[in-house]
Amino acid sequence: MYSTGSIEELRAAIKAEKLKGKTIGFVPTMGALHEGHLSLVELSRKNCDYTVMSIFVNKIQFNDPGDYAKYPRVPDADLALARNAGVDLVFTPNDEVMYKNPLAFVDVEYLDEELCGAHRPGHFKGVCTVVSKFFNIVQPDIAVFGQKDIQQVIIIEKMVRDLNFPVSIIVAPIIRDADGLAKSSRNIHLSPSERKRALSIHESLQHTAQMIGNGEKNPAVLIEAAADYINRHGTPDSIDYISFVDYNTLHNTDSMQEKSVLAVAAYFGKTRLIDNMIITNGDTITCII
Ligand code: PAF
Repeated sequence: MYSTGSIEELRAAIKAEKLKGKTIGFVPTMGALHEGHLSLVELSRKNCDYTVMSIFVNKIQFNDPGDYAKYPRVPDADLALARNAGVDLVFTPNDEVMYKNPLAFVDVEYLDEELCGAHRPGHFKGVCTVVSKFFNIVQPDIAVFGQKDIQQVIIIEKMVRDLNFPVSIIVAPIIRDADGLAKSSRNIHLSPSERKRALSIHESLQHTAQMIGNGEKNPAVLIEAAADYINRHGTPDSIDYISFVDYNTLHNTDSMQEKSVLAVAAYFGKTRLIDNMIITNGDTITCII
């Protein structure tokens, strides 16, 4: 495995692989790698000959400077995990390389109005800008994103379509600890008791999936049940949202759509966690948690 913080070196390495006829898979990350990220690498390796990972804590997507400052940074452990996972090339640029008094940004309208977009102003503009830059730098054939950040996935898919990026997006399932907690770089900030209470998020999704299985289709009833479950079993410090949205518009809906998302964001202590399930309503209803 080769790692570099230089755009020129990265481009030269990728060009050499492309000349050999290899296809390029890309996994963007902010480091603090866990099994969720490694599952993205696995998907990239399944679909492409050569896997590039970026590790960059992207300042411009943090609306809260405190959150940016305390975001975990463990470069040595990350490189070891990336190597073990079979990543071929790691891109580790610094702020200076990525942002020199930037005046150009990329934004996707409308899809950021609810969910995390409503609670983290400017967040998705920061994500779309850095992902566009990475797509231009790496020029991958495919890029892999996790379902856990469902709004990010849907916004990136729209950005790719609208701006004609020649890249296919692959969406990887949520990876969970054995007790159901979705893997997240932020989990290390949870105290043992916060972590235990945080299980209520995943359990609330399972509970509502069961209600859906039993025929409940009213989003208001499902939201109420999820909120009630989390409040009773998890006593979160606060809830940013529990929302039922149309997958295609990411706006609240009062009826089950062909594809919908039930999404949760809540604080346990000072740690903000998100989770979701995708509900497809065809001949049968399926909940993807
Ligand atoms: O999902 C993340 O870790 C980040 O939002 C991403 C896609 C690496 C952009 O900084």
